[in-house]
Amino acid sequence: DVEQRVQDLLSRMTLEEKVAQMCQFVGLEHMRQAEKNLTKDELAQSDAQGFYPGLHSSDVEKMVDEGKIGSFLHVLDIEEANYLQKLAAQSRLGIPLLIGIDAIHGTALVNGATVYPTPIGLASTWDTTLVKRLSVETAREVRAAGSTWTFTPNVDVARDARWGRVGETFGEDPFLVSKMGVAMIQGLQNSNDPEKMNVLACAKHLIAGSQSVNGLNGAPTDLSERTIREVFLPPYKAAVDAGVFSVMTAHNELNGIPCHADKWMMEEVMRKELGFEGFVVSDWMDIERLHTRHLVAENQKEACYQTVMAGMDMHMHGPGFLENVVELVKEGRIPESRIEESARRILTAKFKLGLFENPFVDPEVKEKVLFNANHQNTSLEAARKSLVLLKNEKELLPLKGQGKRIFVTGSNANNQTVLGDWSHQQPDENVTTILEGIKEVAPVNCNIDFLDVGINPRNLTEQHIKQAADKAEKADYAVVVVGSNSFRWDWNEKTAGENSARSSLELFGLQRELVKAIYNTGTPTIVVLINGRPLAIDWIAENVPSVVEAWEPGSMGGLAMGELLFGQINPSAKLPVSIPRTVGQQLSIYNHKPTHYFHKYVDDETGPLFHFGYGLSYTKFNYESIQLSQPSLRAGEKLKVKVVVSNVGDRDGDEVVQLYLKDKYASVTRPVKELKAFRRIALKRGESRQVTFTITPEMMKFLGPDMTPVVEKGEFLVMVGSSSRDKDLLTIPFILK
Ligand code: IFM
Repeated sequence: DVEQRVQDLLSRMTLEEKVAQMCQFVGLEHMRQAEKNLTKDELAQSDAQGFYPGLHSSDVEKMVDEGKIGSFLHVLDIEEANYLQKLAAQSRLGIPLLIGIDAIHGTALVNGATVYPTPIGLASTWDTTLVKRLSVETAREVRAAGSTWTFTPNVDVARDARWGRVGETFGEDPFLVSKMGVAMIQGLQNSNDPEKMNVLACAKHLIAGSQSVNGLNGAPTDLSERTIREVFLPPYKAAVDAGVFSVMTAHNELNGIPCHADKWMMEEVMRKELGFEGFVVSDWMDIERLHTRHLVAENQKEACYQTVMAGMDMHMHGPGFLENVVELVKEGRIPESRIEESARRILTAKFKLGLFENPFVDPEVKEKVLFNANHQNTSLEAARKSLVLLKNEKELLPLKGQGKRIFVTGSNANNQTVLGDWSHQQPDENVTTILEGIKEVAPVNCNIDFLDVGINPRNLTEQHIKQAADKAEKADYAVVVVGSNSFRWDWNEKTAGENSARSSLELFGLQRELVKAIYNTGTPTIVVLINGRPLAIDWIAENVPSVVEAWEPGSMGGLAMGELLFGQINPSAKLPVSIPRTVGQQLSIYNHKPTHYFHKYVDDETGPLFHFGYGLSYTKFNYESIQLSQPSLRAGEKLKVKVVVSNVGDRDGDEVVQLYLKDKYASVTRPVKELKAFRRIALKRGESRQVTFTITPEMMKFLGPDMTPVVEKGEFLVMVGSSSRDKDLLTIPFILK
């Protein structure tokens, strides 16, 4: 049915109307704001934030009316969305607009939406069912707010903590990233009925921009085809298998070819090898950058030619593309059939989304859906499961708050940094800060003292530190909330997030000195980290008794943190990324090759500070009795591994049981271990459970010397346990005959 409707429509479209489907513009209000807020110099840049020199919002309105635009992004209010759809409905063929938004962890750019923990926190839950559920909710909020497409999941595999966007990813492991990405896609797109999508998902950014030179966003990436295929491509394969209907290309070049002109990746790999049937969208004005930055196209027209011929379907964003591409077709350089392919894919999405039936949104629905009680509960559940307890010496936590004085301070203690990147400022009453969460959960006779040191650690002074130490001295406990700030609308204050790479992983400004001074008072100290990327916290990890990695836990994050500190919940999150000791130790990944630590550093220990998969609980889990269904197997057969996990502490708790595999000797070097399965289980205190995993031939596969998939005979090691750290794993060998 959809196919027929698309075909019928295409047969009635002019060339210009087909190319128009490939054109995206930023929302009218976004344009107006850019014009108003940007400096002259910023406006002069070709890639300024949504400003089109010589073009005004009224010109863009006219273009919609004339059917010259197929898509918008960042239309943040429903009046504008309805207005634009009305204009589009008036155009010759009345084709509705596809409106996209970065709803990375909830529709957080929209005022009044639910904000869930950022993806690195979601990955820390290791709970794919939860991620799918909150993605269904996100889809509802996206639609209720006027958009039908979201530029998520970010399935970049994050291996370099200097890169600012680690917090937007699901971490360093291709398998975990794939699982999380699929859960999100299924929730957003509605995997129950692919003909009727909730909203479109978008797997991004193709490819490997997360491991660019020096960790800088958009800088070149130079990686072997093996690394690309083994590390960065698997999440795209999983996304395509899950039916993702759009993919965004990356700012960077890969091995000399800008991703926006990479025919091998877009056509050969994505379409021919992986079978991708959706459409490819460019990133923000990156087609223009083929000319202005990468210098592979002598002018903008050439840039349009290169990208379209490489497989690009939609231009994000602005003028120029339509005229250039129409000319290129008329000149015979781009075949019209290539344009039809793109238009067909984009129209297919519009039909599947039901936009032809009703492109409009109802303000009453928005009112009912955004930040409703169910969504708040899910956000709270996600926050609870995302807080990683890194250290808890002498069981300082949970706090015995009765009658105690608790001192709270730090740059992230009482503001919206809990929301993370891609969030707008939200109404205060929708956000629980860490201080508010502590106050809400603390026993009534507990006295909370707070020192406001400001949100920007650059402004943290010796005077603040002295005042804080004085207050800490008088308290029974001190909670210091430090980290980074990826809050989107503080561009001058951001220390993490998009375009916020760092050359150091230390806490910004005097934050470490603040922690030290408080710790030195002798008052038992808890450090809470609100941050978008792993930080080098070696001194803190060594000295401070309790440390919680909270990432950016969203609207309800402060409440979840209060509950954790006072023991109303039991932490269960596990790190989806290793935390390095220093910036010099990139890549501190767990799935490294056997010679990764061949020689040691002369000035530091090797290995991460905290391992991938690690995270403490208030109870203790014991692993024993690992056994296999058989000691050996033949090609194509499966094998079962069983392990008994017991809760031997005195509280109920959740544990994430992790299974790693290693091919002991292989024809190409293999990682020392690779995550192949995991299960989150709830165990009452004193309870034991046998957990069974099945090892399949697929798990033993790798790319052989000639880059084709092989399974090689010989010995394999299965490791099961509570983290990727060797001492947390039980190991058992089997033979593939
Ligand atoms: O989706 C984003 C992308 O991740 C970075 N550049 C801008 C896009 C649209 O906002």
